[in-house]
Amino acid sequence: MATHETSEYLAANKALWDEWAEIHARAEWYDLEAVRQGKCKLRPYEVEEVGDVAGRTLLHLQCQIGTDTVCWAQRGASATGVDFSPRAVAIATDLARSEWTRASSARTSSCCPMF
Ligand SMILES: C[S@@+](CC[C@H](N)C(=O)[O-])C[C@H]1O[C@@H](n2cnc3c(N)ncnc32)[C@H](O)[C@@H]1O
Repeated sequence: MATHETSEYLAANKALWDEWAEIHARAEWYDLEAVRQGKCKLRPYEVEEVGDVAGRTLLHLQCQIGTDTVCWAQRGASATGVDFSPRAVAIATDLARSEWTRASSARTSSCCPMF
C-alpha cells in the first residue's frame, strides 16, 4: 500500500511521463508518422529473439506511446499495450486506431503503477 510519501513520488513520476509522452510523440526518433504508415520500429534482434508472433497473444507492459505494441500487432500478434501514464495511453490508442494500423490488432489500456 502506498504511503503519503510514495503517493507523492508516484504522482510526480506520472506527471513526468505524461509530459514526456507529449514530447516523444513529436520526436523524430519515435517517428509516429512512419509507424502510422506501417514502418517496423522493432530492432532486428528483438524480432529475431521473439520469433514469429502471428496468432500469438502479447501483453506489452509499460508500452508508453505504443510504437512497439503496434509494430508487434502489425506482425500478426494480438497485442495489448498498457501504461500508467494517461497521456501515453491516449497517444498509443490514437496510433493503434490510425488508418494503416487499425487493420492490426493492437489495443491499449491504462494500468496501475508497478513497483
Ligand atoms: C522507457 S518507457 C518504456 C518505453 C517502451 N517500452 C517502448 O517500447 O517505447 C517507460 C514507461 O514506463 C511507465 N512507467 C514509469 N514508471 C512507472 C511505474 N511506477 N508504474 C508503471 N509504469 C511506469 C512510463 O509511463 C513509460 O511509458
